[in-house]
Amino acid sequence: MGFLVLSAFATLAILSPALGAQVSSTPAQTFTGIGGSGAWWPYDLYNFPDSVRQNVSNLLFSDSGLGLTSYRWNVGAGGVNVSNPVRAPQTFYTGPGTYNWNADAQGVYFLRQAAQHGVPGLTMFANSAPAPLTKDKTSCNSQFVTGSGNAYGTFLADVLQHFINEGIPLNYVSPMNEPDSGFGPSPCGQEGMYVPASQRAEVINGLWNALSSRGLQGRVGILADESNSLSSARNEYATWLPQVVDKVAFLVHHTYDFPSDATYASYISFVKSNYPNLTTRMSEICCSLGNADGTGRGWSGGYDPTITNGLMWTTMLYQSFLVAGEPHYDFWTLLSSGIGCSPLSNSNCVTTANSNGWNDGVIYYDPDYASNGNHALYLTKHFWTFKHFGNFIKPGSQRRPITGTGANNFTLAVSSQNNYFIISTNPTNSASTLPLTFPETVCATAGVRTSASEDFASIAKATNSGGTFQLPLAPMSITTYTFKKGSC
Ligand SMILES: *[C@@H]1O[C@H](CO)[C@@H](O)[C@H](O)[C@H]1NC(C)=O
Ligand SMILES: *[C@@H]1O[C@H](CO)[C@@H](O)[C@H](O)[C@H]1NC(C)=O
Ligand SMILES: *[C@@H]1O[C@H](CO)[C@@H](O)[C@H](O)[C@H]1NC(C)=O
Ligand SMILES: *[C@@H]1O[C@H](CO)[C@@H](O)[C@H](O)[C@H]1NC(C)=O
Repeated sequence: MGFLVLSAFATLAILSPALGAQVSSTPAQTFTGIGGSGAWWPYDLYNFPDSVRQNVSNLLFSDSGLGLTSYRWNVGAGGVNVSNPVRAPQTFYTGPGTYNWNADAQGVYFLRQAAQHGVPGLTMFANSAPAPLTKDKTSCNSQFVTGSGNAYGTFLADVLQHFINEGIPLNYVSPMNEPDSGFGPSPCGQEGMYVPASQRAEVINGLWNALSSRGLQGRVGILADESNSLSSARNEYATWLPQVVDKVAFLVHHTYDFPSDATYASYISFVKSNYPNLTTRMSEICCSLGNADGTGRGWSGGYDPTITNGLMWTTMLYQSFLVAGEPHYDFWTLLSSGIGCSPLSNSNCVTTANSNGWNDGVIYYDPDYASNGNHALYLTKHFWTFKHFGNFIKPGSQRRPITGTGANNFTLAVSSQNNYFIISTNPTNSASTLPLTFPETVCATAGVRTSASEDFASIAKATNSGGTFQLPLAPMSITTYTFKKGSC
């Protein structure tokens, strides 16, 4: 009997060619958003001509651009003791229960743009409490004051209520971004408030109470604790999280430790076993060089606008989605002036890597715009590779695992109501083809590719040979193939 079964399998294997990889019929996670933060570029971009500001909004929030579905607005703390004016957003706070709603016109402008474009995930996040509420009355190099949880929560909830009443459907609030540091010494490079783990439950309780008393508690979810790295997040949860575990909507973390797959997977299983009701989200990252396949990545300065860096960032997204199974990914500042060179004096500089700039944006602008009047926007390859995720991973769509020969951690299957999107990076210098089958009848409809020479360029759709689709993957590229559910 055993012999017969074996020989039947052997015959099958000889008669049918390798099926290649298979898209599973069982969904993995449901996606909630792809986005980034409105810090600190709004201060500069607000000074640009309105046509350019509109262009920025379209490039970020409409599908002709990135199609982001998450936007993180930075509510200012007044910038007290912050030396860089671009990183010193004004605060609405003028005293207990009193506000200047004309403050931070820059940040509010782009928040309104995100809302007008229908971005579904709108977060208000704070790097610090308003200066008067902190220990040293500054917006950095200071600390949260024990006993001020209700006052700080009142401020945050009043601001949320004001903008919700205006019609901006803010649905998340994050009261402490990277609470392990006050970002001193003073004068500081940015706002920041040290909130030791032992104080975090008070921050969340104060905010929860203030939201509840305004009827906003079911409407605005609390995100915490925005730890800079997975290791500090994990080490500190026991100190604060059990006290407020029912008050946190999503456990959000940054990945500035650029974790290995094993470290990331271990963090996820730690959360699953200790806090089974909570889902984690990746909410901030920037600033890495490295290779297209993700090796060599790590926090550093340096500007690399090329396909190498664009593909390197795709490996970070795949890691969060495939290895960690997370539903959400936010990049950090979206726009940056950290080009590290002067585009008007050297026209090649925006497309060439240099060590003076930073990979902290996907759209760049001239740091000297105020004096030279250059209001051009420069899109890096990271913009175009990020567009594959922003355009094709919408909230409510689900990941489908891919198994079998050719499956890898650089290929993502997204199932929406009517389509499958296969997003795949080929970080090598050789062309390859992924053979792929689906758990239901599908019709190949389109393909788009970003490579050294292409920016989201239309390419031929996948071809069907006997039910197995062939997906060509050009060297050093990211490609998305679209398949309509049902027959052609
Ligand atoms: C803020 O800046 C002032 C003026 O330089 C300085 O005296 C003070 O120590 C700073 N405060 C903090 C908390 O660093
Ligand atoms: C998870 O949430 C459910 C429903 O709110 C609750 O009954 C349960 O105790 C929670 N489990 C843990 C481990 O917190
Ligand atoms: C928006 O900016 C991009 C990038 O610089 C440019 O290619 C495009 O033409 C601009 N669109 C408009 C409508 O100004
Ligand atoms: C993806 O990465 C994880 C962790 O490194 C590994 O266990 C898994 O086998 C990889 N999946 C594929 C399809 O290569």
